[in-house]
Amino acid sequence: MARTTTSEAHRAGVRRYYDRNTWKFLLSGSQRAIHRELWGPGVTNRREAVHHAHALVLAELGPDDRRVLDLGCGVGTAALYLAARRPVEVVGVSISPDQIRRAERHAAAAAAGPGPGQVRFAVADFTALPSDLAGVDLAFAIESFVHADPAAAFFREAARVLRPGGTLVVIDDVLAGDASHPRLDDFRSGWHAPSVLSVAEAARLARVVGLELVESRDLSAMQRLSRPRDRLIHLAQPLLRLGRGRSMWADSMVGGDALQACHLGGVLEYRLLRFVRRADHG
Ligand SMILES: C[S@@+](CC[C@H](N)C(=O)[O-])C[C@H]1O[C@@H](n2cnc3c(N)ncnc32)[C@H](O)[C@@H]1O
Repeated sequence: MARTTTSEAHRAGVRRYYDRNTWKFLLSGSQRAIHRELWGPGVTNRREAVHHAHALVLAELGPDDRRVLDLGCGVGTAALYLAARRPVEVVGVSISPDQIRRAERHAAAAAAGPGPGQVRFAVADFTALPSDLAGVDLAFAIESFVHADPAAAFFREAARVLRPGGTLVVIDDVLAGDASHPRLDDFRSGWHAPSVLSVAEAARLARVVGLELVESRDLSAMQRLSRPRDRLIHLAQPLLRLGRGRSMWADSMVGGDALQACHLGGVLEYRLLRFVRRADHG
């Protein structure tokens, strides 16, 4: 009888988490993105704040880059953002079939509008990417890397599909302080996030497979922590904790509160990590 590994069980959990909860994330978020707003330089409203992460990825595209891969693409918002602005072919992969159905619907609706690029979406696991993916110029992962199990497989697959000299951009939470902080486990379990690594650990794992960390940019100050809804969720913690282990949504709310505590306590940072695929690596 085939045995289910811990990683397979984890991925099944992540798939269920996003299949069941994506509609809720979209209701509470904005611009169909499932990541934090970033109030970077020049950002004046929520729409721009949501798209700021996409703009940071766009800025990493070289003038001749065509093949782009969104690792953990949600409902396709970043892919559509890039394709609307550049003549790129973006492939977006998510482990959640529900998200891919939504992404395809959004892409069909967007196809009527102007935009020089193309998008395509597929249900796939970024720790075991389809074998026909190759020659990618830019791969990126916005708030999806923390789900990787194991992180080494995420880097191995990114390195495999990137062309020599290609770029990997990861925008996510990284460990910056005490790894034994009491709220870190609430974040990890509530958000199905085993790969909360320090920058040094990420760099080490990536280097083994030929990805060199060339930039680590702290975006933490661009987050808005302790918004009214965050304070409300914080107040509801005693109630939410009662649902822990029984409701994925309660777990997620506890995890979100823990994430805030870890950022406020300096345990986590929100960073953009940029890696380049070494040309001399097998
Ligand atoms: C927080 S959401 C971010 C989605 C999107 N990047 C965005 O910013 O809107 C995390 C994403 O990672 C994807 N994901 C998690 N583990 C994955 C895996 N092993 N393979 C592919 N996608 C995965 C989820 O399905 C989801 O799309």
